[in-house]
Order: sequence, then C-alpha cells, then structure tokens
Amino acid sequence: MINKSATIIALTAILIVSSFFGITKLQNSINNTNNNDPIDEFTQNAGYYQLDFIESQLSDGSFSAILKWIPSPNEIELKTSPVIRDLRATFQVDANDECEFKITDLNNSRFHLPENEPYPYTKQRYSKKQKEFNLFETEISQVGQKFYFELRRKSTQEVIFSTKDYPIYFTDKYIEVSTQMKDSMIFGLGDRRTDFLLKSGKYSLWARDAADVDNGTPGKEIYGFHPMYLRRDIINNQFQVTLFRNYYGMQVDYEQNSHLTYKVIGGNIDFKFFIGDSNPETSIKLYHNYANGWILHPFWSSGFHQCRWGYQNSDMLMDVWDNFNKYGIPFDSLWTDIDYMYQYQDFTIDFERFNITQMQQIYNLSDSRGVHWSSIIDVGISLDSYAAQKGLDMNVFIKSAKTNDTLVGKVWPGETYFPDFNHPNSTEFWYEGLKNVSSFGIIQDGIWIDMNEYSNFVNGEIVPDQNKKTKPFLTSDLSSSLPFNPLGDQEIEYHTLSLDAYHYSGQDGILYNSTNGYIPTQYDLHNLDGFGEGIATYKAAQKLGKKLTFILSRSTTVGSGKYVQHWNGDGFSTWEYMKLSIPSIMNFNMYGIPFNGDDICGLMFNATAQICARWQQLGSLYPFARNHNNADASSQEPYVFVDHPYVLSSTIKTLNVRYQLLKFYYHLFVKANGVGTIFRPLFWSYPSDDNAYQYETQFMIGDYLMAAPVVEGGDEIKETTHSCVYIPKQAVFYSFYDYTEYQEGEHCYEVPFDSVLPLYIKSGKILHIQDKNKVLRSRFLDNRFSLLIALDQNNYAEGSMLTIDDYNNDENIISNCVEQQNCIVDIKAQGNMGEDNSSFTVDLRIQKEKINTNFQTVIIDKIVVIGIKVDGKSQSKTIFLEENPLIVDGGEIQLDLQFQI
Ligand code: NOJ
Repeated sequence: MINKSATIIALTAILIVSSFFGITKLQNSINNTNNNDPIDEFTQNAGYYQLDFIESQLSDGSFSAILKWIPSPNEIELKTSPVIRDLRATFQVDANDECEFKITDLNNSRFHLPENEPYPYTKQRYSKKQKEFNLFETEISQVGQKFYFELRRKSTQEVIFSTKDYPIYFTDKYIEVSTQMKDSMIFGLGDRRTDFLLKSGKYSLWARDAADVDNGTPGKEIYGFHPMYLRRDIINNQFQVTLFRNYYGMQVDYEQNSHLTYKVIGGNIDFKFFIGDSNPETSIKLYHNYANGWILHPFWSSGFHQCRWGYQNSDMLMDVWDNFNKYGIPFDSLWTDIDYMYQYQDFTIDFERFNITQMQQIYNLSDSRGVHWSSIIDVGISLDSYAAQKGLDMNVFIKSAKTNDTLVGKVWPGETYFPDFNHPNSTEFWYEGLKNVSSFGIIQDGIWIDMNEYSNFVNGEIVPDQNKKTKPFLTSDLSSSLPFNPLGDQEIEYHTLSLDAYHYSGQDGILYNSTNGYIPTQYDLHNLDGFGEGIATYKAAQKLGKKLTFILSRSTTVGSGKYVQHWNGDGFSTWEYMKLSIPSIMNFNMYGIPFNGDDICGLMFNATAQICARWQQLGSLYPFARNHNNADASSQEPYVFVDHPYVLSSTIKTLNVRYQLLKFYYHLFVKANGVGTIFRPLFWSYPSDDNAYQYETQFMIGDYLMAAPVVEGGDEIKETTHSCVYIPKQAVFYSFYDYTEYQEGEHCYEVPFDSVLPLYIKSGKILHIQDKNKVLRSRFLDNRFSLLIALDQNNYAEGSMLTIDDYNNDENIISNCVEQQNCIVDIKAQGNMGEDNSSFTVDLRIQKEKINTNFQTVIIDKIVVIGIKVDGKSQSKTIFLEENPLIVDGGEIQLDLQFQI
C-alpha cells in the first residue's frame, strides 16, 4: 500500500476526454512504485490496547473502561499520525433493543458530530433499564489482557459484533477496527451502485460525483455517505442494523463469512446497534427512528416526471408538453436542468431563451394541461453572479487554507465559490436566492439540488499565481499527508474541494457548534456538504410557503431523509444500469429516503427503444419516477421512438397503472409515518425463504404488490422477452391484471415489448385502486376507488386506506395525516364458501385505525374478490356498486357481500 495522496501531485496527469458528462475530465495516473506502505509497516509491527481497568458499570449492562496502548519493541509509528495511547471504551444501553459502543480519547476531544438535531440522535424510548430485559449481552476481555469487545444476541447467541480475533488501531488519522462476520449476509454500506447483497470486496465511503458501478474496488462509491448495514444471521434468520457513527472518509474491507474491517481517516470508533428480529423491517424502523425519520413528499410528486439536460429554451419545453398532451401520456412535472439559467448561474433565468409567457402556460395549474415546474439549483456559485457578491457580503463561502480567502473551484458556470452551510448566514443567503427564483412569475414546485458532493471540475481548488496570469489547481497538503487513502487509487480530492478548506467556526455554527475555537475543515465535513445544503433548502422552501416539500438531492447522509428526497444520480442507458437501479432504490429505502428513483431510460448514452420501453415499465413503479436524459444523448421521451411504437404504447399503459395505484402507493408512505421502507426486496416479505434472496430484481411495494420487471434484452424480431417470476415458498400471488393465481416456484412466460410491468398481488391483501385510465394529472384523480380483495388460504384479506378526499391539499394531509396520524381506516375481509358450494359471502369491515380518525368522504364503487377456490381453482368475482356505492365518511362499515359462483 503506498501513500497515494502523498505522491499524487508529482505524478503525471493524463488528460482523458470523457464523454460521460460532456466535459473534459482529468484522471490522474498513479504509478505504484513505492512498496513501503506505511500502514502495513505500522500494523505488522504494532502493539495492542490492553484493558487497563473498568471505570464504571451500570445495572442495565452499560460500562466504561480505560484502554492503554502497549507498544511493541519494533513498532514503526505512522509519521503523520501518532498512536493515541490512552482511550476510553464505553458501552451504553439505549433501550432493550438499541445500544452503542464507542472508543474515544480520554477527553473525547477529537472532532465528532453532536447527537442532536439536525443529526440523528437516540430517542427516549420505553425501556426496562435492567440487564435481563436486554435482547443482547456483551463480553469483554479480562483486565490486563488485550482488549476486545463482543456483542451477542441473547436468545440465539449469534455474534452481532466482535473484535475478538482482530486488532484495533487508533492513531490520529488512521483508525482500524474489525468485527467477525460469520454466517452473515449484509446489505447497505452506501452510497454505491452494486448488487443488493454485498459481496466480498473493499468498499470506500466518500461523497463523490461519479457514475461508477462498484464491485468492491475502493474509489467506486458515489454521491452519498451511509455507513450502515443490515445484517442477517443466516443460521437463526435474525436481522440487526449496525451504524458506524463516523463521518470521515473510510474504506470497509469485507470478506463474506469471515470479517469486516473499517479503515477510517479520522474521528472515533463509534457504533450504534439496532437489534431487530426475524423481520428485517423491525431493525430498519429502529434505525429510521434514530435517524429522525423521513419526510412525506407532496402527492403531485408521486406522478410521472419528464426531464432532460438539453431543453435549451421554452420552445423545446412547449414541444415536449404538447407531445405529452397530444399522446395522452400521464405526467405531473416538466423539469428544467441547468439550461434555464443565465450562463448557468444559480437563481437566474435566461429570459431570452425561456419565454416567460410560454412558461406560464406550461406551468399553469389552473389549466387542465398544466404541470408543476421542477428545476435545478447547483451548489457552486458563479464568481460573476450577483449571488456571489451577495454571498461575499454575507461571508458565507468556504475558505481556502492556501489563500485565506474564499475558495475558488469550477463547475458549470466556470469559476465558482461554494456555500458553507455551517455559516449562520448561509440559511438566509440560500433563502434569498430561492426567493429570487420565485419572483420569475412561475412557481418552482420541485427543487433539485445537484453537484452537492461538492463536485468540482478541478481537484482541490484554483489558486491564482501571484501575477494572476495562470490559474493552476492545487490539492491540499493535508490530503498528501494522510497515512491512508480510503479510495485506493482514486485521489481523495479528485473533483472535489481541498481537504484543508475551512468552514465557519463559532458557537452558532449550523452543522457544528465550535465552543473551543476549533475550525472545521472539509476533511471533517466533506460527507455532510449535501446534508447541509438539504437543510438550508428545506428551510428556505418552508419560508417560501411550501407545506410538503419536494427537494431532490444527489448527495445525502444519515438523517438526510428528514429534509430531502433523492434520485440515484447519473447512469448509462444499459441493461446493467437499469438492473442495478433496483438495489439502489432498495438501499435508499434502508437509508431512510424511500422516495427515490433512477433516471428512467438512463442518463448517458443513447437509449435504444427496447431499453427505454422496459425502463419505462420498471420505472412506472419507482417511488420517484422521472425520465431524464443527458445533453449529448439522443432524445428519449416516450414518443420519439417512431419506428418502435411499442415504447409509446407500453409507456402509456404502464403509467396508467401507476396512476391507478397512485393513491394506494401514497397511502403506504402516509401509513409508514416517516419510518420504514416502501420499495423492498422480495425477501423482506419472505425472510425465511433462502431462495428469495437470489431474486434481486423482483421487488415488493410495501407488503402488497410484487413486480418482476423485465431487465434483459429480448427477441427484436418477435418483440418479446422470455422472463420469469419466482414465487416464494408457501406464497400465493395473483396477477394484478387478470387475477391468475401463481403458486410457489418459478414461472416463466413471454413478455411482449409492448406490455405493462409484470405485477402480482400478494394473497391476503386488499388494494384500493382507481379505474382512471384517462386521468393525465394526479390532481384530477377523484375519490372513488375499487377494492381488490386477494384472499389467502383462509379466505381472509386485509388492507387500509386514507380517509382523505383531497390529496393535493398539503395542509389537509399535514394536519390530518402527518401530525395526527388519524386519516387511516383498516379494511378487513373474511370470505366463506356457502354450504352448497355455489355461493360465496364476504364479510367486509372498514374500521377506524384510531379512535379519533377524521373522515373526509371516500367512495368505493367496485369490489373484486380474488382467489375464490372452486374445485381447487382460483376464481374472481367483480361486484359493481355504482348504483349503491359504499360511502366511507365516518363510523364503522360492515357489509355482507353474497354472490353465486
Ligand atoms: C449532473 C446530474 O447528475 C444530472 O442529472 C444533470 O443533468 C447534470 N448534472 C446537469 O445539470
């Protein structure tokens, strides 16, 4: 291992022209000639920490202990990173299913984030504060022995975390800690584009503007930072979540069925454990509760979105809008990318190219064809802009350690400053900017915050030389002095800011309250840059009068879900990227930002008709569904594939299904009440079926629907693909479209290119859907529903729905659903076969979920009973209630439906 950062400046830079972003990228070529890896030299000869004495012990199992470094005689210390010799290890019981383990220096004086808002923090939860009620137990080494810590699940004795057979190193800028990982599967450790089940590999965590696929090579992570994993104990089928509460750049080396090692460049050893059960959702809910939950998006944003980088003027927007209207493609928002700005400067609009009258026509929501305006804001502020002057006056930009002046980097508009969202003035600065956007005469309903890793087209910063003739870019001395580069061959400052760039320091810092004069740097806060921008944007949006906010952020971290939604960034129009969008969405559900999605049809490269059709089908059930395209790729709006009309026709069909399900889908978010997942892997509903773990491209919507999208190419002549669906052990599903029954095992069939997303209803569930094939905007969905009652083997089914008649009224949703959580009714159905086997009765009950449920009128005018067994075969029966619909507007409803079969 060589010190890549140290050597990087001297290495040759090779100019690689990359078409990824339509820009030129600099890629450093790294010459690995130095074999004296300082970390290897240190770890191979290092001593160990001894448990010196136990400082305190509590009756709930909490303890603290003092550790002392016992050096080895031939130890070779890391030059820039001395060993911290005296440490304190603490184990704290937070609840019977939640605990934490930390190792810090004795004064806990190293930079770490506070455990209070806006950061995740431990909530006071009901807990019997006695050891015997804990779901876990611990073991540590004897006093005077080499220190280890082990956490086990009491009921199964499975090891949750154990450093027993592994060293611990705690130096200033290099910390290493490992846990055993026997009989385990893990998911998470993002942000990365990879399979859902993590394979052995070296995974780095560092917010980065990149479109890579990561198969376990350091430096391949992407935009966000989520150092958590969900672990399944394979033997006992139990789940738990481990969060490493350290925000520094790190590498996680994982060896399946063996161990996992964190190698991190700063901070403390700080783990938080959430001990769930055999249902993965239990652990994730505990985790989301700790991470402050996630925010509900406005209903309109659940509709379909059309975007592209390259809608260069309002004529082009008009053309897209006209075509969507002409072809009857349902959609709710037409986006503008950086094209709409004046010279790519934030908070401006180029009125020469974007005619405000045309814009006002497209974004007029009083017109039945009108759509919402969602538009981009980049984090870099052009030096030439009015905003830059304002920001300088307010002193809100990140500073350079080299010049002691405002740091300069480069993004789309050319040279830029970068807001320091730790600065107390930054909230006002950002609000003023967004307020300016709201003065254009159209309302920015969706705010898209991009490039917030922070992405920078030069490495480090631009430092003008003395005569200001040349403007070389320079990386920091700090990055070159790091003993370890978690990103492997990828320079840590590649396309981001210098690590020594510094932020505001003061007791009123927004992200870090500095009481002792400590000046936080990019080294400390880099992975929180997007988080800070998300909070400022959220506050500004609220101040601008938005009730439910829709803020799409590329870079996120633990706790971001309380403020923003997310899309998974740049991808290619290939089958591989399309397939990997599914685990990405599942991951962000685990990370606590369930309203997320990938760019439908792919951002980069030209999408083929077949890929775009399949991606529209798959994306029709993404939580956030947006077709988005790059500036230099060929158009991919669903209607442009004139030689392959199946793209348009399947898009319309499959989006009609989305709109049929839109209120049902939204109700899952409301019901979850800010914690838990919505878009899940198949195994979430069938955790004890080992086979279910292999089907990573099948996904569940809540515990109700399962989709088996086609994610592979098919026969271009016959325009069909052979595809399969796996039905887990003992499960029964029904086709959403024709109610055919599917029992356990694999079922294969042909799926024509011109089709809808293969979709199945789980038996035992009741869906509420809308037969509204011609509704092209979410705001025109009325309050009439059909119930699909999919009976299980006991002829039973259940579901729930909202008692809200206007989903578009944010205040209505907030006051009834978000604050009070009393807008839900439970629906239960029990079927009974008549004695003569020719009639069937369904006892249907609709009950308040809570005593104080508020009722606004919803109407049920059709009921379909699915899964009635006649001679061993499944039948369905549709009952039309148009003449005498069920009005759900208060009280309990009980209905006996009897019919002949
Ligand atoms: C990068 C974003 O990921 C992409 O979605 C966007 O189109 C470009 N920046 C241009 O703004």
